[in-house]
Amino acid sequence: MIIRKMEEKDIEEVSSIDRICFPNVKPPINYRAEFENKIATYFVAEETDSSSLVAFGGYWRFYDEADIITIATLPDYRRQHIASSILRHLLDNSIASGATYITLEVRASNIPAQKLYEKFGFQVDGIRKKYYIDNQEDAVLMSIKLEQNDTNNA
Ligand SMILES: CC(C)(COP(=O)(O)OP(=O)(O)OC[C@H]1O[C@@H](n2cnc3c(N)ncnc32)[C@H](O)[C@@H]1OP(=O)(O)O)[C@@H](O)C(=O)NCCC(=O)NCCS
Repeated sequence: MIIRKMEEKDIEEVSSIDRICFPNVKPPINYRAEFENKIATYFVAEETDSSSLVAFGGYWRFYDEADIITIATLPDYRRQHIASSILRHLLDNSIASGATYITLEVRASNIPAQKLYEKFGFQVDGIRKKYYIDNQEDAVLMSIKLEQNDTNNA
């Protein structure tokens, strides 16, 4: 498995993984717009043999803050630490580009994702009530705050 930055040729495959992993999110994220968005950075996981993509994730950065926008692994490839590898790249890349405060929102019911984020040191900051418009679900707000001299330890 190779983890690399998303390229223009990946837009269709990333969109298809997104539809499989987030079937109820409407409208879906427009990955062409994301690819062209100057504050966005996306990584993909590509199978070495087939060159197929099996996972991806991305973040936006503004000033010293990075916001994890999404992360997803195809169902057949889960629990193989692929999302962990992507998240490691997102964190390292955002920190290298100057982020010291990394945030995200996750559905209250999404325990797998919360466990993944906890493993990387994200802590719960609070709950945003009825944040998701599709089912009125609460969002759990999580973040990592790095000290200025602590950027290697996240
Ligand atoms: C959440 C998701 C990205 C995890 O992807 P993954 O590639 O399976 O994750 P990893 O294998 O790297 O898991 C890392 C850790 O996360 C936790 N975790 C992952 N899936 C879990 C599950 N189903 N139940 C409990 N913990 C889980 C575990 O701590 C795991 O470490 P371990 O396997 O050593 O116990 C994947 O389940 C997914 O794509 N879900 C649908 C999309 C989604 O909800 N994305 C998150 C949006 S905020």
